[in-house]
Amino acid sequence: MTKISIKTGNPLKQKTTCLVLPVYEGQLKSPLLTELDSLLQGRLKKIFRSREFSGKAGEMLLLHSVNEIPCERLLLVALGSKKQADISGLRSLGSQIAVYLTERRIGRCLIDSNPLQLRKGDGVAAIAALTEGLLLAGYRFDAYREQKKDETGPLQAATLLIGTTRDKAATEVATREAAAVCRGICLARDLVNQPGNCKSPLFLAETAQKIAKEQGLRCTLLPKAELEKQGFGALLGVAQGSVRDPYLIVLEYHGGTSDERPVALVGKGVVFDAGGISLKSADKMDEMKMDMAGGAAVLGAIQTVAELQLPVNLVAVVPAVENLPSGTAYRPGDILTSLSGKTIEVLNTDAEGRLILADALTWVGQYNPRVVIDLATLTGACIVALGHQATAVLGNHDGLVRELIKAGERCGDRLWQLPLWDAYDALIKGDFADIKNSGGRAAGTITAAAFLKQFADDYTWAHLDIAGTAWAYKAAPGSPKGGTGVGVRLLVEYLRGQC
Ligand code: BES
Ligand code: MN
Ligand code: ZN
Repeated sequence: MTKISIKTGNPLKQKTTCLVLPVYEGQLKSPLLTELDSLLQGRLKKIFRSREFSGKAGEMLLLHSVNEIPCERLLLVALGSKKQADISGLRSLGSQIAVYLTERRIGRCLIDSNPLQLRKGDGVAAIAALTEGLLLAGYRFDAYREQKKDETGPLQAATLLIGTTRDKAATEVATREAAAVCRGICLARDLVNQPGNCKSPLFLAETAQKIAKEQGLRCTLLPKAELEKQGFGALLGVAQGSVRDPYLIVLEYHGGTSDERPVALVGKGVVFDAGGISLKSADKMDEMKMDMAGGAAVLGAIQTVAELQLPVNLVAVVPAVENLPSGTAYRPGDILTSLSGKTIEVLNTDAEGRLILADALTWVGQYNPRVVIDLATLTGACIVALGHQATAVLGNHDGLVRELIKAGERCGDRLWQLPLWDAYDALIKGDFADIKNSGGRAAGTITAAAFLKQFADDYTWAHLDIAGTAWAYKAAPGSPKGGTGVGVRLLVEYLRGQC
């Protein structure tokens, strides 16, 4: 990972391989640039006049041999209009800088971070976002590549220059925290990118054990025999088509007082979703290795929360299974008895996520959780509704939903609420059992949530459908094709807001 450090001082007096100056559109005459221009004897003004660099987001201009100031190179990066600037923009700025420099094999830089503050008092948040962008740009999933040598490594070191020593300590904390968030995101990305042949439920369980050992968490694994004993009928129904045994993975973090009710996170952990007997079409089925992205987010989040030592009690639960067709697989028409006792008619074996979540949601009730949040790549319908720009949020408590949406706005993992009125319950009423696992084509994301709601009656609960946001189909700076790690930043931001 890129080494990040903080320094105070005048940007134009710094000895560095590359001085990076972020510039807002329409602010080409700032005091700093004016001073720089006179040092460079008007060369900057000439460039601005030629419109080679105007401050529009995405523009970059590298100057060499700037002998008038101590840096070896000077990189101007455009921030676009200050009015439209937001946290995601700053994060993406960090990634753009890192990508630009690594492509040119420039290993170090010093970034003038003074102009980044968006509103009075949020300078630290801006630095955290920039740091995240710098660090995430270095992420690669190359565990299975033989030839890595042609590729450049991540940026080695970035120094962030701030104006006053007053903010130095707070800024250093912010960069350390941003690094912890990035480690959580990268853990989630790695797990999602891992191919199905290497990613059994046991693999996820062992990963959880490893996290527990590193962070001092309590880890409990419920193997198949235990799940049978306790009556996880819905989860076991899904799991029975695969030779790989299911696990219920549980991690506990105790950062709060012992009498404090925990927040529970539940993440869908389908390591591969072929659809079962209701087999998916071959087209893009490979992407269904991402169907444990909810579980990955929950593991990444609890790791980060433990690293940050947040004063909360947290429990993370991942029902881990594989959904395959086979001679032992469950069938459409089967009736499963869930852990709650409610019976479920299986109309479509490809609607497996809600089945495993049903039992996990019931099971987590024993913690008497203050709040339960589940994350799942649950429905293709969510992509139809919101595309890849937002996660859908639904729940049985508007206050919780609002808090999650706000946390999303603060950190850039955006959420959009869909309704969960009781009127939708009629669509999943069973013909031969209490409920059925598919409500048909209409309102697919909502009926899936209406199904989960039946098992989350006892507590305050929200459901995040990350089907559209868990996987990047196109690479962007800081986010290569593949797992995005969505959810980690959001959950950490939400939990921070609780402390
Ligand atoms: N894992 C899929 C949903 C999904 C689709 C996630 C595309 C990410 C990208 C889920 O298990 C599923 O197959 N859902 C079905 C439900 C239907 C059968 C009621 C769907 O959305 O088609
Ligand atoms: Mn499915
Ligand atoms: Zn699925």
